[in-house]
Amino acid sequence: MGAESFGNANFGGAAGVARGMGTKRTTTTDPAAVLAAAKARVAVELHGVHGVAHWARVRENGHRLARHTGADKELVELFAFLHDCCRESDGTDPGHGARAADYAATLRGSLLVLSDERFGLLFEAIRDHEKGLTRADVTVQTCWDADRLDLGRVGVKPLPKYLCTAAAKDRDTIAWAYRRSRAA
Ligand SMILES: [Fe+2]
Ligand SMILES: [Fe+2]
Repeated sequence: MGAESFGNANFGGAAGVARGMGTKRTTTTDPAAVLAAAKARVAVELHGVHGVAHWARVRENGHRLARHTGADKELVELFAFLHDCCRESDGTDPGHGARAADYAATLRGSLLVLSDERFGLLFEAIRDHEKGLTRADVTVQTCWDADRLDLGRVGVKPLPKYLCTAAAKDRDTIAWAYRRSRAA
């Protein structure tokens, strides 16, 4: 699956950006609309190292891990789309997690329809993803691992000691993710 097409989620083109914008209220969360909002929010290069191709691999990593960890797959997907959308640079950019979490909070009740408990997990995963933590709820851990498994795109091979879940620490999983990240 390429970086530009993910089921109903449109990773490329102006049409995808336009869809889902505004203040339309829904009764369920539409991941494609959240993706469109994230793309519209991005201030760094949309096709750079923290852009949509990275989000797509984090999403796929997360789905693979969730089959083993039992993580909330919808939250993992929303994390993939939102966690780096408020970067102000492609450098270390401390605080970009907190900015993205605050941005996610602005989408509650419109694009994000989640219980307090589930939104709390998403908020924590986004806010703290840059901090190198490993202890959290398994859905939060799965989000962080999905992101860290994509470090090969910047020349860093993921090490098990920096990963949270047994599923992510699996040698075959690391090799699979590393190959994909290096091919980016
Ligand atoms: Fe990040
Ligand atoms: Fe990331």
